Amino acid sequence: MEILIRDSLESGAKVGARVVKKIIKSNNRTVLGLATGDTPLRMYHELIRMNESGELSFKNCTTFNLDEYVGLSREDERSYFYYMMSNLFGHVDIDKKNVYLPDGNAEDLREACRKYEQQIKDAGGIDLQVLGIGGNGHIGFNEPTGSFTSRTWVKILSEQTIQDNSMYFDKQEEVPRHVVTMGIATIMESRHCLLLANGAKKADAIRKMIEGPISASCPASILQMHPRVTIVLDEEAAYLLTFKDHYKWVEKNKLDWQQF
Ligand code: PGA
Repeated sequence: MEILIRDSLESGAKVGARVVKKIIKSNNRTVLGLATGDTPLRMYHELIRMNESGELSFKNCTTFNLDEYVGLSREDERSYFYYMMSNLFGHVDIDKKNVYLPDGNAEDLREACRKYEQQIKDAGGIDLQVLGIGGNGHIGFNEPTGSFTSRTWVKILSEQTIQDNSMYFDKQEEVPRHVVTMGIATIMESRHCLLLANGAKKADAIRKMIEGPISASCPASILQMHPRVTIVLDEEAAYLLTFKDHYKWVEKNKLDWQQF
């Protein structure tokens, strides 16, 4: 795992955006896996800035989002479709017909999940998957103790996640119990993962993910088995790491082409 620790949210967002830019520039067509939530917002702002300044184009990109709530319409401002339109897609030159999110409103959810997996395959697989992490170690909406071999499917949110996400809803009871999420196996097939995390409330999950045993009780810990993961942390999210100084040492000694 490549661990990059930054002392400000801005510099973390910038290095994340440079990872995305490098991948887009090194492919004729790029398939991005994208995440929602609070964490990637600053990185999306930076990508919008790069797009506006002509530094980066999304014209040759196809995107697949990690997850979506079941039962919220695309026009609902709490849906992840709405989030992606207002925080990224609506501001960059991406062709909207190349934008995919799981359909949480499909009449046949099971069929929609199978179709999503097929669409990812048909696009050639994901070149770079952007990830956040839950305070409980989830990636996408793959909650603790779920299978490491899971595929895109309907999942039930844990009570902690419902509580964590209730700030986006008027009442906790309004948070949907059900979601469609890429599975852990879907995420693990992407060629490169970029996980972003900030703040002390993520520190325990980050320690378990990077330095703990690989265990379904911290789903993100499976990323230890992924051949190419870049993790961008602020100092608070990194503060429980035993080998923090080592990660900084490694970064300082990287060869030019290894740097972002
Ligand atoms: P957050 O969510 O970015 O809003 O903290 C991350 C996640 O739950 O995966």
